[in-house]
Amino acid sequence: MNRNSARIPVIAIDGPSGSGKGTIARRVAAVLGMHLLDSGALYRLVALSVSRQGKSGGTAAELAKIAATMNVRFGIDAAGDEEIWLDGDEVSGAVRTEECGRLASEVAAIPAVREALLALQQSFRKAPGLVADGRDMGTTVFPDATLKIFLTAGAEERARRRHKQLKDKGIDVSLAALSRDIEDRDRRDSERSVAPLRPAADARLLDSSNLTINEVTRTILDWVESIELRE
Ligand code: DC
Repeated sequence: MNRNSARIPVIAIDGPSGSGKGTIARRVAAVLGMHLLDSGALYRLVALSVSRQGKSGGTAAELAKIAATMNVRFGIDAAGDEEIWLDGDEVSGAVRTEECGRLASEVAAIPAVREALLALQQSFRKAPGLVADGRDMGTTVFPDATLKIFLTAGAEERARRRHKQLKDKGIDVSLAALSRDIEDRDRRDSERSVAPLRPAADARLLDSSNLTINEVTRTILDWVESIELRE
């Protein structure tokens, strides 16, 4: 990171699966006219790359090489929906499956993979600012972020939200299986030795269990207003 990019504001939104980070980060970025980093998508893309190469895994070095060399592009289609391109293919549907999320959580526990994705994540820090969504945005990737938020919600509520999201997409998964999956992923993401899921010491905690998307967005925008985002 050079001196100039260090001045560009970053709003780090970290938290567990299903806390609503993705939706909230997208809204906050849109309102503020800032760039968006969906760091979870990068781990999902590594996982997808691995499975597309017909492998069930690989050595840490092989996985890190995939992370360092995959060609990734984020965009928006004509209808305003997210597009994610991996090595020339549009994969936005494939990266959002539960299976890909599970694999992503496994590759994300490998230090060499995290290291390989660090510079790529930091390269999203561009003027006028960045909203970064993930698990370690405030602790590791952008430790100097202007505003750090740790967004959470009870495990049951998170499973319920995810269930509804999948149902809306026509995907039928049992709520009990989803709850188990979410608990497993929470455990893996929180207990790994490198960049575990935990709030930064200077993060503001926000529990969205009983809040609407609008209420969470409003709270964050109020916080943004209350601090000086630019040097
Ligand atoms: O947010 P998500 O569900 O798309 O993330 C997929 C997995 O990637 C998640 O289980 C943990 C991992 N991840 C991570 O370790 N660090 C990040 N900054 C973002 C995601």
